[in-house]
Amino acid sequence: MALTREGVLQALRKIKDPKRDKDIVRLDMVKNLTVEDDRVSFTVVVKEPGTSFANQVEEACERVLHEEIDPHLEVDVEVDSEMISLGDDVMVGDQEGEKRQQGGDGGVQNTVAVASGKGGVGKSTVAVNLAMSLKEQGYSVALVDTDIYGPSVPKMLGMEGERPRVNDERKIEPLESHGIKVLSMGFMVDPDKAVVWRGPMVTKAVRQFLGDVNWGDVEYMILDLPPGTGDVQLTVVQTIPLTAAILVSTPQDVALADVRKGKTMFDNVNVPTVGIVENMAYFSPPDQPDRKYYLFGRGGAQNLSRELDVPFLGEIPIEQEVREGGDDGRPVVLSHPDSKSAQAFNEMADRVVEQVAIRNAQDDPTQKVEILYR
Ligand SMILES: Nc1ncnc2c1ncn2[C@@H]1O[C@H](COP(=O)(O)OP(=O)(O)OP(=O)(O)O)[C@@H](O)[C@H]1O
Ligand SMILES: [Mg+2]
Repeated sequence: MALTREGVLQALRKIKDPKRDKDIVRLDMVKNLTVEDDRVSFTVVVKEPGTSFANQVEEACERVLHEEIDPHLEVDVEVDSEMISLGDDVMVGDQEGEKRQQGGDGGVQNTVAVASGKGGVGKSTVAVNLAMSLKEQGYSVALVDTDIYGPSVPKMLGMEGERPRVNDERKIEPLESHGIKVLSMGFMVDPDKAVVWRGPMVTKAVRQFLGDVNWGDVEYMILDLPPGTGDVQLTVVQTIPLTAAILVSTPQDVALADVRKGKTMFDNVNVPTVGIVENMAYFSPPDQPDRKYYLFGRGGAQNLSRELDVPFLGEIPIEQEVREGGDDGRPVVLSHPDSKSAQAFNEMADRVVEQVAIRNAQDDPTQKVEILYR
């Protein structure tokens, strides 16, 4: 296997933390990964020092990388611990451990925003199917619809008219649909009234809505953003730390031009854009499933992803089942798992997991952006 970050992380996924029964990449334990020529170095952050797992993980990492990649690979592993011991009975979490807990009781591990510069390109469709695909792979998933003016998640998941409950601690309990936790601005405010709200009111509503929720344990929180690069998007990144952003485009030049704006917005707030998805990329007639008609042009999003140095996450075809899934409250990855679009969504979800793992292994958690008003 060639030496790439993806390859290293893939090999390291073979190592499980027996207590938590998940692999060390999924548990975000691999940090500071660097890969160069024939040398790999990284830190494994264990929960507690001195356990038999903590003592053995270094050797396990070396062994698996030698077996899977190259027996002569130079592997430099450091084992660090989330807990720093201060004397006999005082244990404190280090900075990173504390940050991880900020998300709520159990904690939200990864937050991924789905955005686009242009409206109507399929953000909500991508967000909903990404969430479902991750859930089908066994992750615990939450989906948050932050589109105050045009929330579409309630309809796409068949939850129109539902209202979340507030618990005894005055926290909002997210609703559930098809095994994922869901909150939508559409459950809280009447979109017809919200259209006339001014910026600060939107900001206040989003803050309140994202702040007081009992999320419990969530591995991936997917946020469906409203179209554009304005106030609400800024409020979202100011309210919760985002792990990563993905941008959705259609093949037309106008949509592609807006992807640049989206990338710039996330760059400005130090959120890494980990991928571009091309939606409605091509059409295959049902009676000619092997033909692909690139109705709006071909290759634009892939070229742009190269130019912006952002991974390409895949092309999603135009399919009737996608639109029907959106209208019927059963996303296509559940209703037609064998369709081309469902397969494309599943591959996209795999790449998102891979890119988020790479991002987590390289960078520190994203800080909340404090104030950005000009
Ligand atoms: N790949 C696809 N094939 C067929 N229909 C699709 C596809 N992707 C999206 N659609 C349909 O296009 C419409 C717009 O999609 P969606 O609501 O996801 O876009 P959006 O970017 O979230 O829009 P907005 O900017 O208004 O939030 C929906 O009716 C949806 O079902
Ligand atoms: Mg939408």
